[in-house]
Amino acid sequence: MASVGSSAVLLGPATFCAVTGGSRGLGRSIAVQLAGRLGEGSRLVLTGRSLQGLQETKRQVEEKSPNQLEVKLVTGDMEDSTVYHAHFCDIFADVKPGTFKNALMIHNAGTLGDLSKKAAEHSDAEILNKYYATNLTSVIALTAKFMQVFSASTVRRTVVNISSGTAIEPLEHHALYCSGKAARNMFFKVMAAEEPDVRVLNYSPGPMVTDMLHTTRSCGVKIVEDGFKAMESQGLIQSPDDPAKHLLTLLEEDTFKSGAFLDVFNRFSL
Ligand SMILES: NC(=O)c1ccc[n+]([C@@H]2O[C@H](COP(=O)([O-])OP(=O)(O)OC[C@H]3O[C@@H](n4cnc5c(N)ncnc54)[C@H](OP(=O)(O)O)[C@@H]3O)[C@@H](O)[C@H]2O)c1
Repeated sequence: MASVGSSAVLLGPATFCAVTGGSRGLGRSIAVQLAGRLGEGSRLVLTGRSLQGLQETKRQVEEKSPNQLEVKLVTGDMEDSTVYHAHFCDIFADVKPGTFKNALMIHNAGTLGDLSKKAAEHSDAEILNKYYATNLTSVIALTAKFMQVFSASTVRRTVVNISSGTAIEPLEHHALYCSGKAARNMFFKVMAAEEPDVRVLNYSPGPMVTDMLHTTRSCGVKIVEDGFKAMESQGLIQSPDDPAKHLLTLLEEDTFKSGAFLDVFNRFSL
């Protein structure tokens, strides 16, 4: 599909864009880099649990966005599926048919789970349900809401799944994380096959200096910690601004195959 709008305007005028996990890390970088790329009449919705974090992201977005982009903050905990209905209604509140020409949903929020356990040690079903609620169920249910709200074929729809190399490469003590990311990749591949009018991208940002990486790097599992030291010495650990910029370039170029799994190092094209 050809790109619409100029390269300075990511998805043309009047774009609705929601970024989950916008309160820090990659989500903040994506939000800040979207500022100035979203055209007139656009709305950027940022979600997360920390209002303070979201407010700081909003401040940075507004600093970079002199065209008075509407930035809406929605707090909510994706671990608790009983709040999804209200949370999702807030995300899409006041969206009226015809208001937006483009709709972009970026599923970025994520957690690692309990890294002290090996795959065979995850015995607590309640903890597992909470993990997959945060990292899988919420993503599927939010996508359904997005598709319901933006159902008209006159809206150009794009859904981005922030994935990870661990969706296809196992990492010790990260069984929940790897399996959640693998399931998300396949979910979005199926959706891409079923919805030819929707642009779907599974995007792996690579290792980035964020709170999540800090947790992984200090998880106490020697093989994991050594792996990240090696990546660091090879210069493979980046600021989240780099993959954020790369992702937006992919979206602007709009030449990816819908459902593809791409990464910041161009290693995958699955
Ligand atoms: N960092 C890496 O090296 C790396 C590598 C590959 C892929 N990724 C992926 O990139 C994405 C962003 O990661 P990051 O490194 O930026 O992580 P991060 O710094 O830990 O940020 C995670 C984001 O998710 C939100 N979040 C976490 N739990 C939540 C919950 N229960 N409900 C709602 N929001 C929640 C957090 O917001 P609140 O705390 O405000 O709720 C925060 O905004 C993730 O999908 C991650 O898997 C990261």
